[in-house]
Amino acid sequence: CGIVGYAGLNDAKDILVKGLEKLEYRGYDSAGIAVHNNDGVTLFKEKGRIADLRGAIDWHVETTIGIGHTRWATHGVPNRLNAHPHQSATGRFTLVHNGVIENYHLLQNTYLKGIEMQSDTDTEVIVQLIDLFVTEGLTTEQAFRKTLGLLHGSYAIALLDANDTTTIYVAKNKSPLLVGVGEGFNVVASDAMAMLQVTDRYIELHDKEVVIVTKEQVTITTLEGTVLTREPYTVALDMSDIEKGAYPHYMLKEMDEQPSVIRKISKAYESELGDLTIAPEIKQALQQADRLYIIAAGTSYHAGLVGKQYFEKMAQKPVEVHISSEFGYNMPLLSQKPLFIFITQSGETADSRQVLVKIKELGYPSLTITNVQGSTLSREADHTLLLHAGPEIAVASTKAYVAQIAVLAIAAYAIAEDKVMDVKQELAIAANAIQVMVDAKAAIEEIALAYLPIARNAFFIGRNMDYYVAMEGALKLKEISYIQAEGFAGGELKHGTIALIEEGTPVFALVTQEAVALNIRGNVKEVAARGAHACIIAMEGVAEEGDHLVLPQVHELLTPLVAVVPLQLISYYAALHRRCDVDKPRNLAKSVTVE
Ligand code: G6P
Repeated sequence: CGIVGYAGLNDAKDILVKGLEKLEYRGYDSAGIAVHNNDGVTLFKEKGRIADLRGAIDWHVETTIGIGHTRWATHGVPNRLNAHPHQSATGRFTLVHNGVIENYHLLQNTYLKGIEMQSDTDTEVIVQLIDLFVTEGLTTEQAFRKTLGLLHGSYAIALLDANDTTTIYVAKNKSPLLVGVGEGFNVVASDAMAMLQVTDRYIELHDKEVVIVTKEQVTITTLEGTVLTREPYTVALDMSDIEKGAYPHYMLKEMDEQPSVIRKISKAYESELGDLTIAPEIKQALQQADRLYIIAAGTSYHAGLVGKQYFEKMAQKPVEVHISSEFGYNMPLLSQKPLFIFITQSGETADSRQVLVKIKELGYPSLTITNVQGSTLSREADHTLLLHAGPEIAVASTKAYVAQIAVLAIAAYAIAEDKVMDVKQELAIAANAIQVMVDAKAAIEEIALAYLPIARNAFFIGRNMDYYVAMEGALKLKEISYIQAEGFAGGELKHGTIALIEEGTPVFALVTQEAVALNIRGNVKEVAARGAHACIIAMEGVAEEGDHLVLPQVHELLTPLVAVVPLQLISYYAALHRRCDVDKPRNLAKSVTVE
């Protein structure tokens, strides 16, 4: 979900809606804004996209202060009623919220028995509580503080009081929220990107702080009321980074950026001596650990699986890779000196953050590998390695995945005693190979059309490194084309899943690893014999006549960087031809800030 707020001199509606459009990648089930005008607070909300909200707004309403929200449904189905902002029964208070209030039932039963709730959301409880405490005699600020003190769970909140046309009350706990500062105005946003249109100066907020925002002032206090001072920082992004320009989709733009992302990473990690390395303290943390625990979700988890190979094969460092949502509640036995590595594009994924919180309590060191400087996981971990991929806006991750793999390769290389490859040179070769693949769009689109136009399901198989890429390829296809897809270890397919192969079932096989090339080709024969429509994507050196797509050769360890690209493009074209919304697939959100 995404939050915006604006208090200033200009038309708040326009600034809020533009901000929400920039945050739409965080959720797009429903959206709304609430603005002050002469008659109190006016609310506009709508199920669906920001474009739908635009149509629902009365653009004549004059206003210079308001809040807005775009939602990814957790409690309550996505409809107009459950859309934010939410209002208290008296209509005095209006609030937007991200996160999950775990004790909302208890709070409702304890305090709000007599009040008829208007929605199914945990959020409404917050706004009703504030109203109740004000009715009982507290000021708005006191009621806000008292309510925050009662909440268990995660929240980012912005609140308007109909009786006060100057103030937005703001607070956060575990969910991301920033305040942006300007001349004659101040803003609130889940992500600096949203308000980059008006300011590039932001103040970081910490958990459980209470912030009072007016057009002239930002006052940060602790929950107990002590005033804090904190300087703004400048966000180093420009609007062209976050706009899609001539591209029809962000995903296409981001896939095309992959060669330059690899080159940027090489530059960013170059030492004075010209080789690639990481900061000495991070190197030391990696060296001192007796085992690395990689924690991640989704695409980042798939990058983590490749990273394990790098640390084990290049640096002889044992690694475990875990899905963050599982690790949090089912921690394995740990080694003596673990180092936790969080791989997260956004740096905000709640599932990963809860593991970070837990391992910090246990006193273990941590490293976050993220694309977003200043993100929650980056701030809270001991160390950060940045991806330098530039903002990734399409919900399906592409360039961040290749960036994660490149940074993992550099980190493993940095601590390797015997260097098995010249990582700088090999990454340069890989960047060129990726370029060849993104330039082969026409051929790849044909493959997508030949294999997937009416498919119900599809399989991706590979062995060794290719297996991990197969998993990522399947995830991409699921995410944006809604075709049921599975990524499988080539050898494992015959132990059950081969039962699903029917006449015409598409099977994409990756063949980049010499040691297992014959085996995976054997697996292709097994599925083909049962009617599968097999497509072989092979790398020069192990390619054979009749293969459907040939990748330029790169170092054996770096094949995922190149092999993933045609799979991304196949998913893209499959989704396009099925008329799916490529950048905003149903039910998903780019950064999931709830557990
Ligand atoms: C969401 C996104 C996925 C992403 C995952 C992890 O589910 O839709 O594309 O891989 O979160 O995100 P992170 O920002 O932690 O890498």
